[in-house]
Amino acid sequence: MIFPPDFTWGVATSSYQIEGSPLADGAGLSNWHRFALESGRILNDDHGETACDHYRRSHDDVALIKELGVDAYRFSFNWARIQPHGKGAVNETGLDFYRRLVDSLLEHGIRPFATLHHWDLPAILDDHGGWLNRDTAYRFADFTEIMTRALDGQIQDWCTFNEPWVIMHEGYVNGAHPPGLRDLAHAPTVAHNLLRAHAEAVRAYRANGSHRIGIVVNIEPKYAASDSLDDLEAQARAESYMNRLFIDPIITGEWPQPLVEFMGEDAWREVLKESTTPLREPIDWLGVNYYSRNVVGHKPGGFLNTTSVRQPGTHTEMNWEVFPQGLTDTLLWLSERTQGLPLYVTENGAAFDDPPVIGGRVADAERVDYLHEHLHAAAQAIEQGVNLRGYFAWSLLDNFEWQFGYSKRFGLVHVDPATQKRTLKDSAHAYASICRG
Ligand code: FCB
Repeated sequence: MIFPPDFTWGVATSSYQIEGSPLADGAGLSNWHRFALESGRILNDDHGETACDHYRRSHDDVALIKELGVDAYRFSFNWARIQPHGKGAVNETGLDFYRRLVDSLLEHGIRPFATLHHWDLPAILDDHGGWLNRDTAYRFADFTEIMTRALDGQIQDWCTFNEPWVIMHEGYVNGAHPPGLRDLAHAPTVAHNLLRAHAEAVRAYRANGSHRIGIVVNIEPKYAASDSLDDLEAQARAESYMNRLFIDPIITGEWPQPLVEFMGEDAWREVLKESTTPLREPIDWLGVNYYSRNVVGHKPGGFLNTTSVRQPGTHTEMNWEVFPQGLTDTLLWLSERTQGLPLYVTENGAAFDDPPVIGGRVADAERVDYLHEHLHAAAQAIEQGVNLRGYFAWSLLDNFEWQFGYSKRFGLVHVDPATQKRTLKDSAHAYASICRG
């Protein structure tokens, strides 16, 4: 495996998944904390009250990141800590937490990669319609301006959204995330408002910041189950919905046609009457979160008239197929679509049923293999000309995995939920030796 000498090696987390203390020091309630406290929403009724207690242990966690030998740390802000009411006055104590985190990263020589929004929205904005409300885009631009003014001196790599598709699909179409709505008809409006918010934030960034800003999308490459026309069309629909809905408007200014056709122009009328030009605000880099692939067939009555065809072979605890070739394919596909824009793998990793900690060791051999195979796949994409600048393992810590609570462990570092003790798994040691070259 050969990586360029200036390749960035990192680990990633997000605010609600690790911080805990969600209401400390004047923070407002977030949509995620409210949702998690509603009985029946999350497996075992888990929630982020304590999570990895990172809010109180961030200093030690930065030392842990340093121990891994990585160059960079990708994390996100809980907006409600900074603007408890989703707009207006800044809660300086909340902002101070991130100031201290960033200072500590820099003291340790670790480059901060900041995600402005990794799904935790001030709950009050959800009360006003969340991403169905056009106004939320302007609120997000204001928040971006606040964060940029406060931290652009220290942070050079910014990202607007983590996986806007998941916000739209799980929040407004599938209902597994807040606000828990279930209607495909929401997709065009929510996608449009998220893209508007992204573009407004990039403009706010350009006016106040002077480094780099991008966006992170999740890509699950879609392969047709057969060469039949029906299956090929099913593949195109699935790809348009999940993989093209956010990239195409940003890069080419076009909504993916197979999806517009499938849902019908009526469903898209409000969105289509607006120009996509303002959505095409140039970005400096694109992040991709890759976990698995999807083999798609035609099935009348299925979601988008498609069905997923389960493949033999290894699956993770998330029931996601282990398919490293999909990462090479994804990077090549993105590279072509974005004409050589700098790319980062901003998340990649796996949940396995890890063996317990024995004698200070966690022998997570499956995760070690997963990491090696996927890094090999990333290196192959670079060999084939992809402008890949870095890789972030998901995740630093075992953490709160959204609707699955604490049941799925993605960490390179094991976290004992009772004591909060951190133990480096074998995968952490393996990753550290790769990062150190
Ligand atoms: C991604 C999310 C991240 C984590 C991983 C497993 O979709 O961005 O927060 O949950 O999946």
